[in-house]
Amino acid sequence: MSGHLWGVDYYPEHWPKERWAVDASMMREMGITVVRMAEFSWQKFEPREGEFHFEELDEAISVLAKEGIDCILGTPSAAPPAWIIERNPEIEPVDSADHVHHFGGRHHDCQSNPVYREHIRRYVTAFAEHYADNPHVIGWQVDNELGNSHGDLCYCPSCESRFRQWLREKYGTVEELNRCWGTAFWSQGYNSFEQVPAPRNTASGHNPSHQLDWKRFCSDLVCEFHQFQADILRAHAPGKFITHNMMGFANKVSYYDLGKQLEFASHDQYPGGHFHWNQRAFRADFHAAELDMIRAVKGQPYWVMEQQSGITGWEIVGAAPKPGQLALWAAQSIAHGADTIVFFRWRSCLMGTEQYWHGILPHSGIPGRYYRELRAFMEQTGPALRDMQGSMPQCEAAIIRSYDQEWAIDIQPHHPELRYINHLMTCYRALWNRNVPVDLIPEEADFSRYRLLIAPLMFLMKPGMADRLRAYAENGGTLIVTMRSGVKDEHDLALADGPLPCGLDDLCGAWVTEYDCLLQRENHVRWRDEEESVGCQCWCDLLETTTAETIAVYAGDFYAGTPAITKNRCGRGTVYYVGTQMGNELAERFMAEALTQSGVQGLLDTPFGVEAVCRGKDGRRWLFLLNHTGEAQTVEIPEEWQGDRGPLEPYGTRILTAR
Ligand code: GAL
Repeated sequence: MSGHLWGVDYYPEHWPKERWAVDASMMREMGITVVRMAEFSWQKFEPREGEFHFEELDEAISVLAKEGIDCILGTPSAAPPAWIIERNPEIEPVDSADHVHHFGGRHHDCQSNPVYREHIRRYVTAFAEHYADNPHVIGWQVDNELGNSHGDLCYCPSCESRFRQWLREKYGTVEELNRCWGTAFWSQGYNSFEQVPAPRNTASGHNPSHQLDWKRFCSDLVCEFHQFQADILRAHAPGKFITHNMMGFANKVSYYDLGKQLEFASHDQYPGGHFHWNQRAFRADFHAAELDMIRAVKGQPYWVMEQQSGITGWEIVGAAPKPGQLALWAAQSIAHGADTIVFFRWRSCLMGTEQYWHGILPHSGIPGRYYRELRAFMEQTGPALRDMQGSMPQCEAAIIRSYDQEWAIDIQPHHPELRYINHLMTCYRALWNRNVPVDLIPEEADFSRYRLLIAPLMFLMKPGMADRLRAYAENGGTLIVTMRSGVKDEHDLALADGPLPCGLDDLCGAWVTEYDCLLQRENHVRWRDEEESVGCQCWCDLLETTTAETIAVYAGDFYAGTPAITKNRCGRGTVYYVGTQMGNELAERFMAEALTQSGVQGLLDTPFGVEAVCRGKDGRRWLFLLNHTGEAQTVEIPEEWQGDRGPLEPYGTRILTAR
């Protein structure tokens, strides 16, 4: 994509000028050839309206260029300066309780506000014009982690009026909106679009259709906000790429939509966990899934724009990465398809909120363990990474990851612990444990490329989807449909055209007669004729089969012995229906069956916590073995792979090539 393998996020404005040359030369020595800069530097470069001072950035760019280092520049719209807020306080975002989020951190901006847009237009135009002909500025990042800005997007009058406009375009008439939102309930009918509010805090309850459209609108607004800036950059500085640093499973904006505007996707990867996570939880599978999703955004290799390079922390400080872990995490990013790794950040900052979000260098600037480990990793991995540029994991299995379904389930989780991503992860984990390569694709993707397709929680059955799933199965695919599928239409109104799963009951050869929400209790599932049962959570669909066979039954409650998982022939393919939220053990069992049925195989067997991932292109293949455990591990490596076959060290990484 650009030829760059290694980069760092760098903030020259945080350091005395005299240090820049030292940093640049140390970066070069380490193998760094690209930096991202400037995404939070508005005040510095435009201290007063229209007074642009890019001189210091010019200087930093040329100091870096002398060491052969190129730059990606970020537009600074995630942190408008105090002088803008003083003049236009109306651009500060308002939350659903009508509280204003004030200046003093970042993300204190409303993305629809026209006054703010004019400030952005002025800055971004000047910025783009200034760097259009600078050969060392190779690309742009618009804003920073769009969608991360607010717990929920802004509810100010400007956003509300944009929402109404969006609804007008979608529904045409207010009568149609009333029909699609089911506003007959609780007297919520509207006489005009002007009466439709942003879904602020209510006295009691909310209309799910209204909330769902609000989430869709917010995602579209973020995409439009990006497009607004990307258009300016492309008009005034053509020939440079635009990418964006996404955040895996974050769900405020559809990355599949946002990705359409980008030359390539980027991602921020902090596997050590943010300080507020449970840092002891095993999350290597989760991070693998996020990477598989980012790869699917463009169906091509991606960049990691922020790769963890030390302890994370804001007010609370996270755990020290164990020896080997920083390299292991970067290797995992590469294994799943990163062509370039940019480490966040070059040096731990002396000031501000992120003093404890550590960089490659500690506060002192004296290289320590993180530097040594990452430098050794870059030296060892660089040649292979250069060779594998453009290569991809080859996936015969896919999981649909749908923002719409996630939003609808977030709005009505049914069970307090039911989460769309956890449900999806139960399936993913069982594949990951067997080293089965997986794509995490959007609903609109072409399913026919895959032998195994998992469609989790297809709660909203949109027009055409049932036919597409049927065609997939009839043509020989193995399809897995799970609980709460075909429950609603695309507007979040309950479907009543037939039994659940609506539109899919024929395909599944089974239908849902009733259901049971497992509040504060579990149930169990027994596999075929076996005695032992394993746990299932949250929900049980009670099923009656028509043409399907029953492969597992519930073990408890008044429906003990009735089907929990069914299997149906459909044309040349097979359709499974899983009527519950599987526990990990059940998912293991079930996925073994679905893999055998589909003929999809894992790359090789590895002990628990050792991940095997393969990238390939033009007949060449690279196998990554990633030991996410704190113990040495032995892997039986098939003959076809060439390289070190000895035990993997704790948190060790190994790359082998195909003979
Ligand atoms: C990322 C963000 C960076 C920095 C980092 C550490 O989410 O993009 O700007 O804030 O986290 O907190």
